[in-house]
Amino acid sequence: MASFAYCLLLFPLLGSFLMAACGNFNQHFDIKWGDGRAKILNNGELLTLSLDKASGSGFESKNEYLFGNIDMQLKLVPGNSAGTVTAYYLKSPGTTWDEIDFEFLGNLSGDPYILHTNVFSQGKGNKEQQFYLWFDPTADFHTYSILWNPQRIIFSVDGTPIREFKNSESMGVPFPKNQAMRIHSSLWNADDWATRGGLVKTDWTQAPFTASYRNFKADACVWSNGASSCSSNSPSSTTSTWFSQKLDSTSQEKLKWVQNNYMIYNYCTDSKRFPQGIPAECNAS
Ligand SMILES: *[C@@H]1O[C@H](CO)[C@@H](O)[C@H](O)[C@H]1NC(C)=O
Repeated sequence: MASFAYCLLLFPLLGSFLMAACGNFNQHFDIKWGDGRAKILNNGELLTLSLDKASGSGFESKNEYLFGNIDMQLKLVPGNSAGTVTAYYLKSPGTTWDEIDFEFLGNLSGDPYILHTNVFSQGKGNKEQQFYLWFDPTADFHTYSILWNPQRIIFSVDGTPIREFKNSESMGVPFPKNQAMRIHSSLWNADDWATRGGLVKTDWTQAPFTASYRNFKADACVWSNGASSCSSNSPSSTTSTWFSQKLDSTSQEKLKWVQNNYMIYNYCTDSKRFPQGIPAECNAS
């Protein structure tokens, strides 16, 4: 309830520059697939996805967004979740799509989930970074955030930045900034690759597998009928700190802490994979 009231308060402050959307899954999301396996509960405060041998399930946002600061709380599949993948991402349609990904790769009980991240620009990805988490993501809800503005994309977990993808268009690297994206999420079986590279298969005796969502919050520019809710005023820094936000020195320290202690894969250091040279954006400071 507290976060809902907080969101209502934001509306007059933010004025027409952007839309602050909160909480209610009925209002902001559609269940897209899974034949009853995805459920909106508690008057729209909670959403659950489930997976069994026959099918997974998924939902997406009603709105399309072009830039935003988007929070969602997730509680992942507990116990033996090996083989399951919970994907939570922004994506535009089409064959040269843009995409910003969180994917949670399940594991045997007591073994760590992998948080996989990626960024696609104009249909090209290959920018993976993977992390372990510093807590058990199945024991409670945690906040996963995507800050997406014209200069950078920042992935955060409980307010701690884990990855920054900067706009490196000046180096010829496409950056997602022209295509509006919807929020998508799905729970599905990927036991051909997800856990220890596909060695550990889904144990269907544990089905159904369930992941839960709550406290959606978007300070974002909604794109509809070819126009942005943000374009009526020029972006003013007083109403929209996220639109030009960057990491301050405290956040940069936190990012370093995560990268030093929890990062398990970084495409930027995978020189075998890029014999023609590490991607240009990796050298941006
Ligand atoms: C699962 O646990 C194993 C053993 O600790 C680990 O190597 C692996 O990275 C973990 N995560 C996934 C998704 O495979």
